Amino acid sequence: MPSESVPSSPREYNVHETLRDGAKIRIRAIRPDDKGRLLEHFHGLSPASVHNRFFAMRRELSDSDLARLTELDFRDHVGLAATFGDAEAERFIGVGRYIRAAEPARAEVAFAVLDEHHGRGVGTLLLEHLAKLARASGITEFEADVLADNRQMLTVFEQSGFRLRREARLGTVHLVFSIGETAASSKAHDERASAAAHAEGEIGGPRK
Ligand SMILES: CC(C)(COP(=O)(O)OP(=O)(O)OC[C@H]1O[C@@H](n2cnc3c(N)ncnc32)[C@H](O)[C@@H]1OP(=O)(O)O)[C@@H](O)C(=O)NCCC(=O)NCCS
Repeated sequence: MPSESVPSSPREYNVHETLRDGAKIRIRAIRPDDKGRLLEHFHGLSPASVHNRFFAMRRELSDSDLARLTELDFRDHVGLAATFGDAEAERFIGVGRYIRAAEPARAEVAFAVLDEHHGRGVGTLLLEHLAKLARASGITEFEADVLADNRQMLTVFEQSGFRLRREARLGTVHLVFSIGETAASSKAHDERASAAAHAEGEIGGPRK
């Protein structure tokens, strides 16, 4: 199992991870100076991904959207970015965040991964790290509204090992699940980590 060690301030969260194809990424807290990186990430999403994330065909993020999405309190609104590269060359390939609900032990979670990086395990990793931070701050359940035809998002949740409760709504599925670790979530983590470790050692090296 992953260690549940979380830095004293989740806004310092910064860990190295390996994707299942062996590529190295960083999962780190989103900072106020990430507005440019977040905007570039948003512009890199396909219209279908934007629709799946925002339920609308948005073309732009306003300055107030960017402030809301990067100036986080890391108590009720926690955001993580999956990144490649360092310093000036650092690029967001995925973003995941949770926002605490009116019921304080529950938070709504959402993700957006650049289309060319779909299916590499980035969404799964972001969910795992968000759940770890959420558990450390007293959150016991995540919820999400997912468009009913968004197979990729539903698969990420289904394969997490968390036990999902789902309610079909008009065109969407409302999911609620406990983020307490289960035997199935531990197994999912171990299999993912083992595939990553295996890929790291493969001849020819990871896909860049
Ligand atoms: C939903 C989303 C976050 C998933 O992220 P991801 O990094 O692609 O997810 P993972 O790589 O962890 O994929 C997990 C599963 O989804 C499926 N999947 C993901 N991308 C796929 C693709 N391009 N083709 C086929 N299956 C895919 C796979 O079945 C995969 O299962 P596997 O582990 O058995 O291969 C990403 O597709 C995305 O950003 N979509 C647009 C925004 C969105 O839908 N947000 C959700 C709002 S709540």
